[in-house]
Amino acid sequence: MSAGVFLIVEGLLLYNIIAFREKKDSKEEIPPQHYREGLIEIIYTGVPIVIVIVIFFMMLGTMNAVAAPASQASDLKLQVKGHRWWWEFDYPDLNITTANELHVPVNTTVQIDVTSMDVIHSFYVPQLSGKTDAIPGIINHMWLRGDTIGQFHGQCSEYCGLNHANMRFTVIVESQTDFDAWVANQQKPPVQPQTEQQQAAYTLLTDGMCSMCHDLGDNGPENATGPNLTHLMSRQRFAGDIFDLNQENLRSWLEDTQAMKPGNDMDHKFSKEQIDALMSYLLTLK
Ligand code: CUA
Repeated sequence: MSAGVFLIVEGLLLYNIIAFREKKDSKEEIPPQHYREGLIEIIYTGVPIVIVIVIFFMMLGTMNAVAAPASQASDLKLQVKGHRWWWEFDYPDLNITTANELHVPVNTTVQIDVTSMDVIHSFYVPQLSGKTDAIPGIINHMWLRGDTIGQFHGQCSEYCGLNHANMRFTVIVESQTDFDAWVANQQKPPVQPQTEQQQAAYTLLTDGMCSMCHDLGDNGPENATGPNLTHLMSRQRFAGDIFDLNQENLRSWLEDTQAMKPGNDMDHKFSKEQIDALMSYLLTLK
């Protein structure tokens, strides 16, 4: 349609330029000019207005259809919360809270409430959905649906501070069987500490410094500012889906989080004993 409009407009323009250009030895004066041609002015403003109004109402229908497919009982419900700089994923019906890694069953509509715990972020999985702003105090609704099994990358798409670019997440679309297995594991309580060293870490996590921001099992703050650690090691990456979750990176993180991700909310110097203890326990949280 645009190409058609372009050809007609440019064609008429070229025709008029060539057909009515000034002849070489023309003695013609400027032709008579017309002002305040009421009827013509009404037509050339009225017609476009009518066209735009018609398009507006057609678009409302499409926007409604795209924004909210009829919600069904079988839909998976999800709450997405943006934090500086990571994503929290709550499955209210499944009693699961996780971070940065979103598991969804294939061919299932996921009804998502998006909000933010601090500044404005934007939830965006280019291959699965449009962008939805995550605004503190406001719940925006969106949905997505994965038709093929695989991993899809998501990214915060609203500038939200120093580490905006490092606020990623991964959507894992998996078979219903794999999803059910994941759910069953996530619903388990955290692995209990087995050694004295692990017990020291457990105390730190449930009753010490860490418990001010992180949840472990049912222990933790009301609105956690840090990711839920109950099944930390079941995830592939951490710190906003940036670093591979392995022993080496986790230790570097505990030693100096600010060196790895400057400006993040975790700014605490642990002693070597505390780090050793935390490592011995955190690595068991599969
Ligand atoms: Cu969050 Cu950009």
